[in-house]
Formats: sequence, structure tokens, C-alpha cells
Amino acid sequence: MTGPRHFADIDAMDGDTLRDILEGAKALKKARAGKGQAAPDAGAPLAGKLLAMIFEQPSTRTRISFDVGMRQLGGETIVLNGQDLQLGRGESVADTARVMSRYVDAIMLRTKSHAVLEELMAHATVPVINGLTDLTHPCQLMADVMTFEEHRGPITGKVVTWSGDGNNMATSWIQGAARFGYALRLACPPELQPSDRAVDWARRHGADVSVGSDPEAAVDGADCVVADAWVSMHDDPNSDRHNMLARFRVDERLMSRANADSVFMHCLPAHRGEEVTDAVMDGPQSVVWDQAENRLHAQKGILAWCLR
Ligand code: CP
Repeated sequence: MTGPRHFADIDAMDGDTLRDILEGAKALKKARAGKGQAAPDAGAPLAGKLLAMIFEQPSTRTRISFDVGMRQLGGETIVLNGQDLQLGRGESVADTARVMSRYVDAIMLRTKSHAVLEELMAHATVPVINGLTDLTHPCQLMADVMTFEEHRGPITGKVVTWSGDGNNMATSWIQGAARFGYALRLACPPELQPSDRAVDWARRHGADVSVGSDPEAAVDGADCVVADAWVSMHDDPNSDRHNMLARFRVDERLMSRANADSVFMHCLPAHRGEEVTDAVMDGPQSVVWDQAENRLHAQKGILAWCLR
């Protein structure tokens, strides 16, 4: 590969590289057993490296896990609110990329426009990491695959069911089906179907992806059931989404149709009582807190791949 190693999207990476990143993340996690969160990793592999994080939208997990991850790897971070930059007053993304590349070793961006990420990557001479856009959330997908495999072994050949909005997180799960080899069953309201482009791309790359509107049919035989917020950060909060999505709520009745050893996943933040009930979120099949923790470890694998 020439140029900086961007971590842009699951469909922009080959399966072997994604697997190498995940195995690196698992090794980094294992090596930290028993250490305090502020203790550096052995050898401080990213000592002297500086990550800038730009947030155009709110974040808890992404902000904290990237910051802690860089510290554990021996590096440092700068956290920037998009509105505080000249970017918010009309400086171009391209010029911002050129300038920031002179100051920092990598850039993590959370943006409401995927086109901004693409322009940043096109003009940055340092690695750029996708920390969520309106179209995808690849860092979360890496943490989710890692979490599934910790609980249930290799995800290849397993069945994952998505119940709800065919949103940016759904797109990353669709792309992941092609790269990690799980079957994906999406149940989404007719008005909120997932990206045709992503589904077509995944099928062209050998993925077993089905799209429908019946959550009960989709969850039959599932090894993993995934829910997400009904109103994402870039959605209109006044839309009719709550009515459209009510029958896609993951409750104990729906979980009981999945395999007995299935896990429940949610990237968080959750809206308890909407897309998922308390009984499922806090129940024995839920692995949501492990998912949140694994954002830290998976992103350390991504940072190490981008910067070493
Ligand atoms: N799941 C996720 O990306 O969380 P934050 O929005 O809190 O970063």
C-alpha cells in the first residue's frame, strides 16, 4: 500500500488485514491483564506519536477509548470540536487536512458527512481513522466482531441478525459479512431499509446477506442479535421512526426465538424501552459492556496498524 494507512471502512480493507488488526488487538488486550488503565503497554509502541481527534458530533465511547488507547500505547492525543476549528468558519477540509498533517501523526474524525471523511483522507498525508459518519461505523464493527469471538468463538459461518433501522451501523455489519464470513439477516421497516449499494457490494464479494421486514423470521437460528438506536445523531428527531420501528424492539420474546446460546449486542448509547428492553440489556445474553470495553482494544489494534 502506498500513502498513509487510512482506516476508512470495512469495504476498503481486505479480510486478511482486518483479521491481523483484530488478532493484534486481542494480543494487546491479553498483555494488559492486571494492569491499571493508566499503565503503559510494554515497549510503549506509539511513544512520540500524536493523534488528533475531530468531533463534529457528540461521543462518549469513541472519545474516551481513543484517548485511553493512545495513552496506553505511549502516545498522546488532542481532542478538537469541529466547531472550534476554522473548518467551522469555512476553511476547506482539504486545507485543514494539509495543515493538520504538519502537526500530528494521525487524525480520527467523527462527522455527519461521509464526504468530509473522504476529502480529509484525499488530502491528509497522515493516516485518517473513521470514527463514525452518516454512512458507516467501522471501529465499532471491529469491536463487535472481537466481542462475539471472545464469547462464542470464530464468527465465520455464524448467523447475525440486525433488527431495526438500516443505518450506518447496519452498513458496517453488511460490509463485515463479506470480510469476516458471517451470514447477516437484516429486518428493517420498509421505509428504513439498508443501503442497496452496501448489500450489492457485499453479495458481489460472496457475503450471505438477506434483507426483509420480519424480525421474528430474521432472528430464527441467530447466534447474535443486534439492535441500535431508533433515532441516530443525524436523524430528524420529529420523524415517525418510533412508530415504524416499534415492532423491531428486541425483547425477551424475540430473543427466545434465537439460538439458546446467542448473544445480544448494541453499540450504545441505548434507549432502554425503545429498541431494547431492560430485561435483554441486563440479561444473561447481553454482551454490551464487553462491546464498549472492546472499543478500546480494537482501536488500539487499528492505531498500531495505522502508525507502525
Ligand atoms: N458507539 C459509539 O460510537 O458510542 P459514542 O457515540 O459514545 O462514541
